[in-house]
Amino acid sequence: MAKKTATIFKCSECGYTTSSWAGKCPNCNEWGTLFQKEDPVPSQSCGQAQGAVPISLMDVNSPPRITTGMEDLDRVLGGGFVSGGVILIGGEPGIGKSTLLLQVCGNMASSGLRTLYLSGEESPSQIALRAKRLDLVQEELHLSCGNVIESLFSDITDYDFVVLDSVQAVRSEKESSWPGSPTQVRSVSQICVETAKANSIPMVLIGHITKEGRIAGPMLLEHMVDTVLSFSGDKTSSYRMIRSVKNRYGNTDEVGIFEMSHQGLTAVKDPGRLYWEKTDSSVSGVAMSVILEGSIPLVVEIQSLSCRTSFPYPKRACKGIELNKIYLLSAVLEKRCGISLSSNDIYCNVTGGVNVKEPGSDLAIAAALASSVMDIVLPSDHCFIGEVGLAGEIRPVSRLKLRIKEAVKNGFKKIFVSSREKLDSVKGVDLIRVHNLQDFLGVLKE
Ligand code: TYD
Ligand code: MG
Repeated sequence: MAKKTATIFKCSECGYTTSSWAGKCPNCNEWGTLFQKEDPVPSQSCGQAQGAVPISLMDVNSPPRITTGMEDLDRVLGGGFVSGGVILIGGEPGIGKSTLLLQVCGNMASSGLRTLYLSGEESPSQIALRAKRLDLVQEELHLSCGNVIESLFSDITDYDFVVLDSVQAVRSEKESSWPGSPTQVRSVSQICVETAKANSIPMVLIGHITKEGRIAGPMLLEHMVDTVLSFSGDKTSSYRMIRSVKNRYGNTDEVGIFEMSHQGLTAVKDPGRLYWEKTDSSVSGVAMSVILEGSIPLVVEIQSLSCRTSFPYPKRACKGIELNKIYLLSAVLEKRCGISLSSNDIYCNVTGGVNVKEPGSDLAIAAALASSVMDIVLPSDHCFIGEVGLAGEIRPVSRLKLRIKEAVKNGFKKIFVSSREKLDSVKGVDLIRVHNLQDFLGVLKE
């Protein structure tokens, strides 16, 4: 007797499967999303194992690169696009994702490649108007708008480069849920990856991000693609950063800095002092550092203001620095240097809207805090580069030479670094080596 097939119910939102029906999905808690699933597993057209091959027989030449026409974007990608490589770029609404990719399509079309810009968000006339305004109208640049991936991809093999704007705005006929739901995003991206690989077409998928800053859709999406780029920037500033978060074909953490203007996005050629606003140097609480964004050194200005608290608990607020960093450095200053901050409110800010995450700026943050509390003005030609440990020790940082070169270029004369840095003297600058925060404050007070 033939074995009876068990009925399976599948959630149209998150893809969860269960053998019993329920009004609410136990996984994503959505109501009315469980439907009977006929095919237990969708058939896979590719991805069959082909048998193991000795690694020595593999062709290990690096893949040829296809330039995006933007030097800085090529660098972030590790040299340009790769045939069959799928790139996912995520960013906030209005940051400039569609503009960037339309520019890339225009550049590639002008070099003779047949490019296709697929949009599920805008009409052909809107995109064409933008292309005309940005002077990107090229014979080889094609547009297609719609919301069903299968019909958008109907003549995909005719093209050398494809952009899909966006992965959340289109749906696949294989799934019944709304565009943007996790099942649809997974299905659409699977079709994109399979199509790109099968036809060796480089493809860029534009992705929305959630309120928390993650790319909307299942985490699986980021695992499926070859490269994930994050496109970010402060809405109040015209500068944008493109960072590679995952890259199967190159380095991660490489960064490109662009400026949005009426001509679209252009690379910033000398970004070193982009975020440095040179505040009035005769006030306390201002300290300079050089941080690294990928391989780009940036001069940053850290400002701190400390005043007597009028609250039961002292207030700590900051912008551009993690709050935990302020708690940690305040505790180190209090315990190791005897500077009492427990009855003071502390406000910290990094000018220009840049986010300082790397430890190389610790010394400058500690200097700004101490300068503000002790009301000591730090001379404007001083720069502070070092990591601060819990014992108050000042530790070496990565790529110090590159940072110092940028500091010298920007006119700094005295640079405070860790005494453990293995670096001989540098021409044109006074390197001050400090062992720990106590020594450092001693030098500052002199
Ligand atoms: P867009 O590329 O549509 O953003 P996204 O696709 O990430 O949502 O860019 C929209 C913003 O960019 C819009 O607010 C206007 C601005 N912009 C310019 O400043 N200059 C330009 O040349 C273009 C095309 C857009
Ligand atoms: Mg857009």
